[in-house]
Amino acid sequence: MKLITDRLVLRHFRADDAAAFAALNADPTVMRYFPSTLTREVSDGFLAKIIDYYKDHPDGWLAAEAEGAFIGFIGTSEIGYETPFTPATEVGWRLIPSVWGKGYATEGARACLDAAFAHGLDQVVAMTTVQNTPSQRVMQRLGMRYDPMDDFDHPSLPPESPLLRHVLYRINREEWLASGTG
Ligand SMILES: CC(C)(COP(=O)(O)OP(=O)(O)OC[C@H]1O[C@@H](n2cnc3c(N)ncnc32)[C@H](O)[C@@H]1OP(=O)(O)O)[C@@H](O)C(=O)NCCC(=O)NCCS
Repeated sequence: MKLITDRLVLRHFRADDAAAFAALNADPTVMRYFPSTLTREVSDGFLAKIIDYYKDHPDGWLAAEAEGAFIGFIGTSEIGYETPFTPATEVGWRLIPSVWGKGYATEGARACLDAAFAHGLDQVVAMTTVQNTPSQRVMQRLGMRYDPMDDFDHPSLPPESPLLRHVLYRINREEWLASGTG
């Protein structure tokens, strides 16, 4: 899948994105709400999984380019672990700090939500740790709904992790179409 917005190209990742993807994942500012930065080996493994996912799915994490340069990823992907709200598809984003504050995450995610609902999904969720307010602001700008009853402990984090508690935002097709942003 390739999505084009006013300022962005969202395209499938390729093997030759590995170095730029690893630099994104090794940046402590980018990863400040994650348990750790990723080593080159772990980043390469993640990239291989992202590329493999395209085989069976119309969507996935997409490489984002602005002015022809790699700026991170935006996309939708099925959640691969069990929680009270799965099975579900999430929308997510991770961009290099030099492009924060320009609306790129919101612009790219809008295109992904349009595509997700056009492909027949009924609902898309987004999640992040309670401390990650920049990411929650993207969810709010997209018109996603927060219900404190949906807060959950992330199953892949240890119980003592300060990042354990997560918020969940949701949007369904009717809400997306009614919002007029789609
Ligand atoms: C989460 C993340 C993508 C948010 O980036 P961001 O730049 O704040 O979000 P957007 O791209 O939507 O930009 C919105 C900001 O740009 C501003 N902006 C400027 N021009 C804009 C435009 N044309 N359209 C919309 N917003 C614009 C908005 O006012 C807003 O700033 P504010 O939050 O201070 O009000 C970024 O912080 C990030 O990559 N973090 C690291 C990875 C991460 O935590 N990912 C999420 C894990 S769940």
